[in-house]
Amino acid sequence: MIKQSKNPNAMANYKISGPDAKITDGVLRSDRFKDIYFSSENGLAEARHVFVEGTNLAALLNSNDHLVIAETGFGTGLNFLAVMDLVEKSATNCTIDYISFEAYPLDKELAFEARKPFSELQRNSILLKKLWPENWACAHHRLFLQDRIHLHLHYGDALLEMKQLNFKANIWFLDGFSPAKNKELWTENMFTQISRLSASKATIASFSVAALVKDGLRKVGFKLEKKRGFGKKREMLTGYYTAGLSRYYSHSDKKVIIIGAGIAGASIAHGLRATNIAHIVVEASETIASGASGNPIGLQGPQLMAAPHPSMQMSLACFSYARELALKHGVVLHKGLISLHYPEKQGKRQKKMAEQEWPNELVEEASSRQLSQIANLAIEQDGFFQSAGQLIDPSKFTKKMLNDSEVLTGVSISSLVKRKGRWELTTTAGSILTATDIVLCTGAGLPKFLEKFTLPSLNLQVTSGQLSFLPKNTTLNNLSVGLQFGGYLTPMINGKQVLGASFDLSATTQVTQRGHNYNISLLPDALQKHILDIDQLQGRVSKRLASQDRWPLVGDWHDTIHLFSALGSRGLTNAPLLGLIFRNQKLP
Ligand SMILES: Cc1cc2nc3c(=O)[nH]c(=O)nc-3n(C[C@H](O)[C@H](O)[C@H](O)COP(=O)(O)OP(=O)(O)OC[C@H]3O[C@@H](n4cnc5c(N)ncnc54)[C@H](O)[C@@H]3O)c2cc1C
Ligand SMILES: C[S@@+](CC[C@H](N)C(=O)[O-])C[C@H]1O[C@@H](n2cnc3c(N)ncnc32)[C@H](O)[C@@H]1O
Repeated sequence: MIKQSKNPNAMANYKISGPDAKITDGVLRSDRFKDIYFSSENGLAEARHVFVEGTNLAALLNSNDHLVIAETGFGTGLNFLAVMDLVEKSATNCTIDYISFEAYPLDKELAFEARKPFSELQRNSILLKKLWPENWACAHHRLFLQDRIHLHLHYGDALLEMKQLNFKANIWFLDGFSPAKNKELWTENMFTQISRLSASKATIASFSVAALVKDGLRKVGFKLEKKRGFGKKREMLTGYYTAGLSRYYSHSDKKVIIIGAGIAGASIAHGLRATNIAHIVVEASETIASGASGNPIGLQGPQLMAAPHPSMQMSLACFSYARELALKHGVVLHKGLISLHYPEKQGKRQKKMAEQEWPNELVEEASSRQLSQIANLAIEQDGFFQSAGQLIDPSKFTKKMLNDSEVLTGVSISSLVKRKGRWELTTTAGSILTATDIVLCTGAGLPKFLEKFTLPSLNLQVTSGQLSFLPKNTTLNNLSVGLQFGGYLTPMINGKQVLGASFDLSATTQVTQRGHNYNISLLPDALQKHILDIDQLQGRVSKRLASQDRWPLVGDWHDTIHLFSALGSRGLTNAPLLGLIFRNQKLP
């Protein structure tokens, strides 16, 4: 469980405690709750009987193109695998959002071990182990079965997490430990949240027929029925929700035009593909990732904060997802990042964080001597080693994410009008594209786009960022890990060592000596002196877009024109997940 504090000055604590679980006599037991994770007779048969059949999942899969399943207590993920197995075996096109809550995440090896008796699930059990989230207090998102099943795994107390969410579940699996052993998960407040988050006719199942469960669920609008329980259990509970709005929807009439083929456009396309929403990407330049997303090397890492803040959880969730996706697409160039206690402001913040509890792979304090060893370069500052951070190939990442989408490159829009509820876009090549929705992913091109089509304007900041490519004759070439110090320096990868990145308000597109000098000035003095041939530096300039408050612009803007822009200097980490959840929120 994540330690939460009501004191605003409290130190952040992003460590999650475990469940004290172990396998005894072939069954996984929690010492904390003095209860078992699933039936000692046959956990898979129980999952199928109680949850899969109890909620009528097979029939719902055949009559819907999208379902939301919500579960209290992810545990080993056995229920999730039972669902995946059924989807795989059914002739259904239904896509699923599987939202689960877990306050005491299991170690992935132990969860895998506990699932081992169910050999028919072995292939997907191995996959789940591979994609098992890091032990970070945030929501983790993973895609399965060619992106048809989207697992949203919230590491945190189910009630606290639910209160912050808005979804409409079609199916509920109530699978916390028994109410007698874990009252927390079966309170009136919990039933109120379940009701708030239920779609009309949502089905529900639980192994427990305790009076407090029956009464609690009836009170908030469920019609219940007792059925034969699994194995030695005489009874179980099933039912459906009698109130609520229907969220069984069809995407069949949606068609989306995405403008811009950088990481933002690619992330929206990736999200739409997962729910089979028709879309096309229009890119003005001749190639994908010609803007900021076309830099040769980029960092993926979370924005860590010393003070507790909800955005921290979002940043971790984005990082967890983007990191996994980059690995899946084979675009990781290098693993591990160092973040120096430098410059002074960053040093102060990081030293405060060092006194807090963090997962080791995010914040591992290290002395200058240890960092020098890791970096293979003499470093004078202490700092953090982040083994979870990584360097990626941004352009390859963007291209991979667009692989299965139709992209028109070298195409600009010359007119944009709405006729009979649909947008009509005329391209410079003379063709007409129609859509129900448009998503503007134009990066720094957004202000001009809004002006050209007389759309409402926004207060935006365009800056150019120059990267300097170091010559191959400096001691800095020895660097063996990504280094952050206000700016960043990468190792030499595929013949390029990148130092970045300037913030130039003049938004120039030229590589300048001024830009190189700025980048060098970001380095700690002792490292600056290694760069001798300043006039031999080469570089690349691209533009960033930021909103006034520096938050990304994600959502409805004007009519059915949506924005996914202003990703600032963290687009490579934040865009993939924001793009994935965008389609749930904005294109229902
Ligand atoms: C120097 C520099 C270094 C950076 N380093 C990192 C890093 O290490 N890690 C990190 O996470 N982030 C980093 N960033 C930020 C990251 O690169 C951006 O947040 C991200 O690339 C923005 O993606 P985007 O798709 O919004 O914009 P872009 O990648 O710029 O894509 C916008 C696309 O829209 C197209 N377009 C524009 N107007 C139109 C139009 N009218 N019609 C059709 N197409 C149009 C453009 O041609 C372009 O292809 C860096 C940024 C810079 C500038
Ligand atoms: C019976 S097990 C769930 C078994 C699981 N569905 C499976 O397939 O393995 C109950 C789970 O609920 C979790 N849990 C207990 N209290 C919780 C809470 N307040 N919030 C979220 N999860 C909780 C436990 O850590 C445990 O993993």
